Amino acid sequence: MAVTAVVGAQWGDEGKGRIVDYLAQRAQVVIRFQGGDNAGHTVVNKFGKFQLHVIPCGIFFPETKCIVGTGTVVNPDGLLAEMELLKQAGVSLDNLWLSERAHITLPVHRLIEEAEETARKGDQIGTTKRGIGPSYSDKAARDGLRLGDLLRPEYLKGRAKRLIERKNRLLSTYDRPPIDEEEFFGTLERWTAQIGPRIINTMPMIRDAVKAGESVLLEGQLGVMRDLDWGIYPYATSSNPTAGHACTGAGMPPSAVKNVLGVVKTYSTCVGAGPFPVELEDEFGERLRTVGDEYGATTRRPRRCGWYDALAVSHAVWLNGFTSLAVTKLDVLDGIDELKICTAYKLDGELIQDLPHTPDLDRVECVYESWPGWKQTTRTVRSWNDLPEEAKNYLNRIAELAGVPIGYVSVGPARDQLMVLKDINAEA
Ligand code: GDP
Ligand code: IMO
Ligand code: MG
Repeated sequence: MAVTAVVGAQWGDEGKGRIVDYLAQRAQVVIRFQGGDNAGHTVVNKFGKFQLHVIPCGIFFPETKCIVGTGTVVNPDGLLAEMELLKQAGVSLDNLWLSERAHITLPVHRLIEEAEETARKGDQIGTTKRGIGPSYSDKAARDGLRLGDLLRPEYLKGRAKRLIERKNRLLSTYDRPPIDEEEFFGTLERWTAQIGPRIINTMPMIRDAVKAGESVLLEGQLGVMRDLDWGIYPYATSSNPTAGHACTGAGMPPSAVKNVLGVVKTYSTCVGAGPFPVELEDEFGERLRTVGDEYGATTRRPRRCGWYDALAVSHAVWLNGFTSLAVTKLDVLDGIDELKICTAYKLDGELIQDLPHTPDLDRVECVYESWPGWKQTTRTVRSWNDLPEEAKNYLNRIAELAGVPIGYVSVGPARDQLMVLKDINAEA
């Protein structure tokens, strides 16, 4: 048993949620380490189908401690709505804990984000409008409110008053009405009552689990291409969804992480703006969207679809140091005659293997290799040997280009629609 970071290797929506739900069967702790309710992690299991936004996907196991980690930004009302849905489905929430150091996403963060996106006019990021950027901006500016502040009313009041003054100045520049102070304090009090008992210093819990050699999962949000530093800035999110940040966001040293599992989809998708070189704006793109049900889990926006981009994944491999891959949505490729993999970009007539600066990435041409597809359904396959030869070849090529072995292959959204080639627990 060991610590495993589970992170996205593409533009997000690789299927991290379903992989964490599967691995959580044998985990004692699951920690969401960054992002907020911009995530949409779909889980299909015996409780039903869920789109989890900030609650870790281990929540379906009452014995598994689930922690919304220090590196996250939490919208308490969103969290409460998510808790309610789970409760109604009969899921126990006694195992849900919130880091006192996590930051609070406030209604004003959403308002400001909306105003800022509108002001960007033709150059919008296409955010999820969950107030993620403004929350992390306040964190970095040291103006943010943290969950633990809710448990310290006098301290909270002082911080909140200063925050209101600053936000009201900003709101007036966007011709928006000021924050109603009384209403705002009422909201903070309500949150204290509703989620206060779950807010703790999560560090001892995590340290004890790691020291005891328990199985701990660090659940990432989004993927490397939207990483604030290594993604397609400015079309990025405002945190780092990479394994390096998993330690800080969760609260453990880098040396504690034993496995880094990269979640990759057998093709590429992207929600929001920014360069996406492999994008298919033809019937193949439409086919992937329809068969793969590629619509944003948080916003229901149609996802942009394209062929598998081996450069993007290699970028992720280096930055995260994957020890194995979880390859998802193999079944979506069933019945396609010819599959393509992008193995290089051409920029100003030259072949390149590394991701260039964002404006240059917008200009690259993709170099593809072709692979024969397969006719049979893979949805019912549960072992490598039963896969069509062409599917094995395609997966082997993905592993070869990444230079990383495949640990898991999924062939459907449900928990059991998955085959295990190399289990993370076997590596420990
Ligand atoms: P995440 O954000 O990385 O957790 O991924 P999302 O949940 O946003 O998107 C993945 C989508 O694909 C969800 O609708 C899943 O139910 C679905 N899914 C996951 N794995 C598979 C698979 O192997 N096959 C199919 N057909 N769907 C899958
Ligand atoms: P999961 O965890 C896909 C995208 C947005 C936008 C950019 C910045 O389900 O993979 P933000 O709201 O974070 O400021 O938006 O990132 N984005 C996602 N795309 N999946 C997600 O999460 C996303 N979270 C944010 O579309 O381009
Ligand atoms: Mg998602």
